Amino acid sequence: METSSFDFGMIGLGVMGRNLLLNMADHGFSVIGFDKDSAKADSLGSFASPGTIVKGVNSLPEMINQLKRPRKLMMLVPAGPIVDSVISDLLPLLEDGDIIIDGGNSHYTDTLNRIKFLEDKKIHFVGMGVSGGEHGARTGPSIMPGGDVKAWKELKPILEAISAKVNNEPCVAYMGKAAAGHYVKMVHNGIEYAIMQLISEVYDILKNVVGLSNDELHDVFKKWNEGELSSFLVEITADIFLKKDEFSNNRLVDMILDKAGSKGTGKWTSQDAMNLPVPIPTIDIAVAMRNLSVYKEERKSAAALYRPKTKMISKNKEKVIQQLHDSLFAATILCYAQGLSMLHNASAGLQMDIPLKDVVRIWRGGCIIRSSLLELFTTAYKKNLQLPNILLHKKIAALIKKKTASLRKVVQLSAAGKIPAAGLASALFYFDAYCSANLPTNLVQAQRDYFGAHTYQRIDKEGSFHTEW
Ligand code: 6PG
Repeated sequence: METSSFDFGMIGLGVMGRNLLLNMADHGFSVIGFDKDSAKADSLGSFASPGTIVKGVNSLPEMINQLKRPRKLMMLVPAGPIVDSVISDLLPLLEDGDIIIDGGNSHYTDTLNRIKFLEDKKIHFVGMGVSGGEHGARTGPSIMPGGDVKAWKELKPILEAISAKVNNEPCVAYMGKAAAGHYVKMVHNGIEYAIMQLISEVYDILKNVVGLSNDELHDVFKKWNEGELSSFLVEITADIFLKKDEFSNNRLVDMILDKAGSKGTGKWTSQDAMNLPVPIPTIDIAVAMRNLSVYKEERKSAAALYRPKTKMISKNKEKVIQQLHDSLFAATILCYAQGLSMLHNASAGLQMDIPLKDVVRIWRGGCIIRSSLLELFTTAYKKNLQLPNILLHKKIAALIKKKTASLRKVVQLSAAGKIPAAGLASALFYFDAYCSANLPTNLVQAQRDYFGAHTYQRIDKEGSFHTEW
């Protein structure tokens, strides 16, 4: 039996697993990593900082035997059946009270099943979202653990040490019961999809309607990142326009095929929002637009058939750029509003008790959707823990009010210019619908009752009514 000397173990030494583990080592924890691929296990030490305690092994029992009790170990393997197969390999090697973390993007219902399965075996299973990409994993990600409070307390010192910091506060917090960690990460990704879609539409308009070059696009996004739009996604967008292609004389962005892939978290967000039900149309549109992008050949045929011609503008370019800035700002708030209202509803509906004030606080740094807006949302939730929608907060309302005229103009401009700005339009229409004390759904109810006797409620009396139309 080997001595139990390591603080933390990692299963899966791909870039994310390796970098998270090395981040722990950089913070003084002794770490051990396992990968079936012996090349990855063997090379782990070569990436470590001098003076840190890091060991790579290619035998799971060897790793398990060397971990301090209760054992703390994380899986960073592809979501799906591989997670279950690692769990079954681990089970005979673990003891009561050990903690397994799933740090991948697993579907929250899988996490719920795994928690139940392992609870019977007295093993804590923690579903944990990790955001920040490869670089963030090594230097400070935003971390979203949920589930067993006892396990969270054991993990807290390590996770706080490795997470991103904003004003010295760690970007990690307990996200709620059961599978809340993976749920919050799923919605984070839904918001990520939506904001990326908005930025790409604004890029489309700036490029094809305003006529900006890649250098000018860089300047615009760089300037925006220095103001109220300051965010990780705007920052990297500015960088992207400058990157030269290594195979041609063009910028790389112009050589990339317009087909976007996805791993599923955006789709899951939409699916789950439908189940709750909560409206998140801008996230839905972002998923749909990625799906539509895949039909490249059909789009080419349709383009030839209908010849949509983009209308360039020649005047008022500066004004339109400012309107685009304001539109992106308003629509981005509307994306967060949709995602956060989904979390608010899921928190109660799925009995997860998600602390929204902590969600927005830990999204301020490290994660892909970090932006200066998160500071404002943190203040909003601190004042009202039960805020159902950030749009109801006075300060946020004041900001949105100033920008919606621009969003309306930009949606008009994109429709007139035949630019498919479905994300921006959906954000505006969500806003208009959310702010409508009266919607035309009275007519929908009348129709349902007409053809299906589904009954309706009245504005003047309690109860359900049916009419022979
Ligand atoms: C993050 C990212 C990360 C990953 C997404 C990308 O927060 O660090 O969201 O989890 O990049 O899974 O998702 P798609 O491949 O679906 O775009």
